Amino acid sequence: MVRSGECPSRLLALHYGADLVWGPETVDRALIGTTRRVNPITGTVDFTRFSSNGQKNHVPTAEQTESVIYRLHPQLEGRRLIHQIGTASPDLAVQAASLIAADVAGIDVNAGCPKPFSTLGGMGAALLKTPDILCNILTALVEKVGRPHEIGISVKIRILDTPEQTRALVERLVKTGITGLTVHCRTTPMRPRERAIRDQLSMVAEICHEAGVACLMNGDVTSRDEALSLAAQYGADGGMIATAAETNSSCFRAVADGGKDTWQTVVAQYVRLALDVDNRWGNTKYLLGQIIPGKSPLYNGMKQAKSYRQIVALLELHEELGKKAAEVDERLGLDQPKADAGLSKAERKAKNKAEFDAAQKRRKEDKGAKRSASEAGLENVGDDRPAPALDQQRQMGPGSVTEQASVLAV
Ligand SMILES: Cc1cc2nc3c(=O)[nH]c(=O)nc-3n(C[C@H](O)[C@H](O)[C@H](O)COP(=O)(O)O)c2cc1C
Repeated sequence: MVRSGECPSRLLALHYGADLVWGPETVDRALIGTTRRVNPITGTVDFTRFSSNGQKNHVPTAEQTESVIYRLHPQLEGRRLIHQIGTASPDLAVQAASLIAADVAGIDVNAGCPKPFSTLGGMGAALLKTPDILCNILTALVEKVGRPHEIGISVKIRILDTPEQTRALVERLVKTGITGLTVHCRTTPMRPRERAIRDQLSMVAEICHEAGVACLMNGDVTSRDEALSLAAQYGADGGMIATAAETNSSCFRAVADGGKDTWQTVVAQYVRLALDVDNRWGNTKYLLGQIIPGKSPLYNGMKQAKSYRQIVALLELHEELGKKAAEVDERLGLDQPKADAGLSKAERKAKNKAEFDAAQKRRKEDKGAKRSASEAGLENVGDDRPAPALDQQRQMGPGSVTEQASVLAV
């Protein structure tokens, strides 16, 4: 899920007993062109690239550092991590999946995201209306990525308006060679607060099983025990937990093994893991905001915190984590005063506006250059979906890149 499933969140879910974790949906073109690097400090595998800041033929400056598009921890999650892609093209899906296939247990195609940024590009839930494209994507992934790398290919869908429509779709999907299918038991227009509808679930599970495909259920599942009992009731093979895991990932621990931990214990474990993998500060803060209850006196303190050192002091973890927090702060530049520190609100506003205007100007010039190229017949034809700037993608929700959270499954 958006922001809530970066590397440390997935490690937290695994710590509490999740059997598999799904990475954040990453748009195919965001991964294509990245470089795979082993990070010697964190032990993570990082897929990195220079941000283009919206410019088409961007040349990185000497000072520019690479952005981490995707980070995974091979020892702690590698073979339990499913990489989810957002795609509307078999070719791009195969290109993106091939880059990461050796590092993960499976590739999942998101065919359930209802947000316009995803559906307008033909991705997410739009694929439910273009089953030919969806089947072509899955078949291409099975043949060109799943089989050669010996990993599973799966799909996540929503239920359709009628059981007949869902049946017709699932019957086609299971023939593509996929090994798993997750069904979010809501239709595309349904909002998260509406109760999940489970009356099509047994049918979906049955069609999957007849074809030898595993079926996971999703929607309003709040704990491991509940997932297992609902799966048994509806004939599914397991459950995927999303929003309940955002606030307290110990929901993955069975009552027999200790059940849910207090948020104080969960938050401490989260901070340890975030420090272990040098997690981006903005993402860590977002997650802390999910885990720490708004009514806790610590919540406001957390909101004010500007570094890992301040957080470990606030949570009284200084003795254990203070040294490490200082090191991570240094690596992430959190101990540096911000470039605009000391500016008044009006000065900061003016500075932001000037930067925005300069970016707009560059974009216009870029568009002009593109028009001339196309008028001259020089432009490449092919996939013409616009590739949003990485910084924009981070704002965009489930199709985004580094701000996204995984969905987590037991
Ligand atoms: C903010 C937000 C972000 C989400 N991001 C993703 C995503 O990246 N990939 C995906 O397959 N589903 C995504 N989902 C959907 C969840 O995985 C899940 O299907 C949905 O929340 C229902 O499960 P729940 O009732 O356990 O929350 C997202 C949902 C929300 C609310």
